[in-house]
Amino acid sequence: MIKVVLLGTGRVSKHLFDAFTSSKDIEVKQVYGRSYKNLKPFSSSVKTTTQPHEIVAADIYIIAVSDDSISAVSQIVKNKKGLIVHTSGSTPMNALNNSMNKGVLYPLQTFSDHRKTELKEVPFCIETEFSKDYDLLEQLAFSISTKVYRIDSEQRQQLHLAAVFVNNFSNHLYYLGDTICNKANISFDILKPLILETAGKIETVTPFEAQTGPARRQDRGTIKRLEGLLSESIQKDIFTLLTKSIENTYDQKL
Ligand SMILES: NC(=O)c1ccc[n+]([C@@H]2O[C@H](COP(=O)([O-])OP(=O)(O)OC[C@H]3O[C@@H](n4cnc5c(N)ncnc54)[C@H](OP(=O)(O)O)[C@@H]3O)[C@@H](O)[C@H]2O)c1
Repeated sequence: MIKVVLLGTGRVSKHLFDAFTSSKDIEVKQVYGRSYKNLKPFSSSVKTTTQPHEIVAADIYIIAVSDDSISAVSQIVKNKKGLIVHTSGSTPMNALNNSMNKGVLYPLQTFSDHRKTELKEVPFCIETEFSKDYDLLEQLAFSISTKVYRIDSEQRQQLHLAAVFVNNFSNHLYYLGDTICNKANISFDILKPLILETAGKIETVTPFEAQTGPARRQDRGTIKRLEGLLSESIQKDIFTLLTKSIENTYDQKL
């Protein structure tokens, strides 16, 4: 049984907590948070504390707090043995600022407050400072997911960058599509089959092969007409830049 203390009461901590409590290999000993209010969802089934000096002994301390607070929160875990890890994609392992052995347990998925995500299919990218700790962290990750990858800090930052492009930016483009639909009095629902088909396609073809649209076809007249429909300059800039990026990718200049 791997004993775990979770530090942080946000989305990642809640998802990890639910998965750990359903695993027979993990025992969550305690959840630390800085407010009683946010510890409430945990407190009926596990010990909780807001006091750093009350943090109990464990095999692994998992810091799931905002990236900028990882270093400060790592410093409150004092005089403990075991492994300390954070869950951030873009934060180096050495942001963990204490004398314990360090590691990273990065779940490559987007987590929301009111949407349950099954962790079994979520890729966990793991790394440890010392090879002797790797097996323990791998065992923990495999207890909640079937997809565990050894990824070092440098690779993880590149992966996080790629994830920002495919996840955050594409979602922002959905948002822009939604605002355009709203202005034209059209339901965004009408675009959903297209979005799902585009996402589904990458299971069988590469993103390079999957590209369609006027920029790939070099349909100059259509591009100009669509661009002319945009009134906000930032939307125009995004349209022009993405069009240029697609043209460059397929080596076709207007
Ligand atoms: N959300 C995702 O989709 C996702 C995916 C993969 C990895 N991650 C990583 O997982 C980590 C947590 O993200 P999240 O989405 O769970 O964040 P979140 O939902 O925004 O929650 C942030 C948590 O950090 C706590 N916190 C911030 N500063 C603190 C401090 N000084 N002391 C104690 N607690 C502090 C907050 O406490 P209060 O509630 O008291 O403010 C809150 O519990 C981050 O490193 C993030 O990069 C997130």
